[in-house]
Amino acid sequence: MKHTVAGVAITGCGSATPGACLDNQGLSQIVETSDGWIATRTGIKCRRLAGAEDSLSALAAEAGQKALAMAGLEPGDIDMIVLATSTADDLFGSASKIQGLLGASRAVAFDLTAACSGFVFGLVTASQFLRTGIYQNVLLIGADILSRWVDWSDRTTCVLFGDGAGAVVLQASKRDRLLGFELRSDGTQNACLQLAYRGGPQELAAGVKIGKGTYEPIQMMGQEVYKFAVRRVPEVIEKALHRAELTVDDVDWLLLHQANQRILDAVAQRLNIPSEKVISNLAKYGNTSAASIPLALDEAVRGGKVEVGDVIAAAGFGAGLSWGAAIFEWGR
Ligand code: ACO
Repeated sequence: MKHTVAGVAITGCGSATPGACLDNQGLSQIVETSDGWIATRTGIKCRRLAGAEDSLSALAAEAGQKALAMAGLEPGDIDMIVLATSTADDLFGSASKIQGLLGASRAVAFDLTAACSGFVFGLVTASQFLRTGIYQNVLLIGADILSRWVDWSDRTTCVLFGDGAGAVVLQASKRDRLLGFELRSDGTQNACLQLAYRGGPQELAAGVKIGKGTYEPIQMMGQEVYKFAVRRVPEVIEKALHRAELTVDDVDWLLLHQANQRILDAVAQRLNIPSEKVISNLAKYGNTSAASIPLALDEAVRGGKVEVGDVIAAAGFGAGLSWGAAIFEWGR
């Protein structure tokens, strides 16, 4: 097979969030906390939560549909769907279900799990299929319903998370708008942030025991994760900028995983990027994991902030531990 080498352009975006909204005041009825504590420590004021009638697949498909509409594509045009998520409706994956919901019958679809780095890892993964010239149109969705896996009696974690979905369309393009990237993992720090399966022994037959259990709610060493993010994220952004032959002065927008306003501020400060260039919508949605970057991008594009040709430095970080940055220009 002969393939032409192509570039990548990000030509559409979309997002979807569940209707139910829980503000800090409401949360303080559930656990011993306050709007003051949450707002000061995290910047979060509100979060959207998926109900029993909601599904990750439906939210993701809605975000995907909107991204396709912006890019001017039909579902039948998509070659591949990548779903970045840690909270699929089905452990076998939810990407195929989304393919069916969208009617994207030509598209191969699969899940990619890298927690809050999932969108950036997915962006780079999807881009490889375009750069080799194998595919023309890819739909990348970041979606998570972490509320299903939060311990709602643990005030140290439950105040942080929210649910949502965001999507982008990536298309083969003469000009390569993915300018640079850097992806990293450190499994030695895996215990800092987990949503782990725990099984106890169940004897099936004499001498044959399986580990039967379930996934346990999110456990996080908050301060360790905070320190990791503030130290490692600026490093990967600088590395990705170096690969792109750019400097921080060339960055129009800093688009970080929306975990905590204090992390956003500290990373921007370390990079010497002024606060006007930092995209933030976590006050409204909390930490939506793999969805947070495309959700914030979608709002910034539709709100007229981000314009065609703007240089965006995006970075994700989270469980794994995993972290990564991608520098790209928005638009065709
Ligand atoms: N309300 C009121 N008090 C609280 C709450 C709460 N919701 N949670 C903790 N506290 C208390 C603690 O018990 C502690 O009390 P003590 O001093 O009497 O022991 C006090 O507040 C301070 O607790 P710390 O844990 O030291 O608070 P910290 O300033 O570190 O803030 C936070 C905690 C917000 C979690 C911070 O560590 C953080 O943002 N870490 C990064 C977490 C993150 O971003 N995770 C997600 C990234 S990865 C991913 O997205 C999956």
